[in-house]
This record gives sequence, structure tokens and C-alpha cells, in this order.
Amino acid sequence: MIKTAEFIMSNSDVSKCPKDTLPEYAFIGRSNVGKSSLINMLTDHKNLAKTSGRPGKTQLINHFLINKNWFLVDLPGYGYARVSKSSKKKFQRFITDYFEERQQLVLAFVLVDIRHEAQKIDLEFMEYMGEKGIPFCIIFTKADKLKPKAIERNVAAYMQELLLTWEETPKYFVTSSSSAVGRDEVLNEIDKTNQQMNALNKN
Ligand code: GTP
Ligand code: MG
Repeated sequence: MIKTAEFIMSNSDVSKCPKDTLPEYAFIGRSNVGKSSLINMLTDHKNLAKTSGRPGKTQLINHFLINKNWFLVDLPGYGYARVSKSSKKKFQRFITDYFEERQQLVLAFVLVDIRHEAQKIDLEFMEYMGEKGIPFCIIFTKADKLKPKAIERNVAAYMQELLLTWEETPKYFVTSSSSAVGRDEVLNEIDKTNQQMNALNKN
């Protein structure tokens, strides 16, 4: 489904991001959760997005053009470096600028490590997305680190936690960048959304 994937640009300023009106899909989550690795897995390119074992690798907004038709956007993690206390709910300023200003964003994927219980900062970020009315799905990462039963248990516990504050739980995907688990499911979701966007634009 992905024929071409090209790095277009890195930016710290949302106003300098590509001017195209193509739909885009952003990956967000704590540092080290596996955002950049997931982009490489989805596009089947080993080194398209830069990854590292140390948190804080991605520092800028990175646009990757897919099939010359839509963008994947790799963002810096939250909950790590350069967090200003005054920034809205602990998220770096240009992350919030991106989400609040980028009209082209059609869907965000909030990544969480499948091994851990729901973390406050992720729940706060999802709440923030809800407040801003930004559609999002959850992506559980690093599924290769757990056995199937544990995956099931952790996902169920996460959804239970969400139901304490949300009426409905968001759509979610279980993925592994090392084994490509979840690849088709995530790409299908993007395809489906692109088709909906096209249908809207025709009207
Ligand atoms: P920042 O750019 O710092 O915010 O991190 P990131 O979310 O982009 O994480 P990145 O993709 O750089 O991955 C962080 C570490 O987790 C690297 O050592 C990856 O190899 C590892 N990792 C990412 N995804 C997976 C996965 O699905 N399975 C396993 N086992 N390791 C993974
Ligand atoms: Mg990264």
C-alpha cells in the first residue's frame, strides 16, 4: 500500500511546515515509546525516521510524504526534555502549537508502551486532545516484549482506566516495530480516513 516514502522537512515552527493541503497523520507519545520506529515499520524503510535507544531523539516536527498523497508526521516525545512548567499541561510548546494550528491534521496516533500501566501524562494528553476535539487512536507499542495473554490483560486494563474518564474508548491498535505486528491495521485505518477525506472534498 505504501509505494513511496520521502522525507520532506524538519521544523520547530508549525507555520513553516509544508503548505500542501494533503491530509496528515501525526504520531505522538512519550519519548522512547517508539514513534520513529513505528514510522519506519509502517513505511518499510529502516532509516527514514531517526531512532535511538536514548529518549529525546526526535526534537523537531518531521514531515514524510507518502505516495505523494499524504503525510506521516513524526513528533518529539513529551514528558522528557525542555518541558516548560508554564506550558499547557506539561507538553512542549511546539507540540501544542502543532496540534492547535495544523489544519491538515486529520488523525493523531497516541502511542503508549504496552508493558506499562496507564501513565498520568498520557491520560492528560488524551484529555487535552479531547478538549481540542482532535480525533485520535491509541497505538500500543513494543508488543513483541509481551506474551499474548499479557497483551490482552494490559490492553483490557488500559481500556478500563480510560472508561473512568471517557464515555467511549478510542480505537486502538497493538503493534510491534520489530515484528511488524499491527502494520496492516494501522495502514488500513489511514487508508479509510484518506478515502473519507476524498469523499468530503468532492462534495
Ligand atoms: P523520541 O524520538 O526520543 O521521542 O523516541 P521515539 O518515540 O521516536 O522512539 P524510537 O522509535 O526512537 O525508539 C526508542 C527505542 O525503542 C529504540 O531503542 C527502539 O529500537 C525501541 N523500539 C521501538 N519500537 C519497538 C518495538 O516495537 N519493539 C521493541 N522491542 N523495541 C522497540
Ligand atoms: Mg523519535
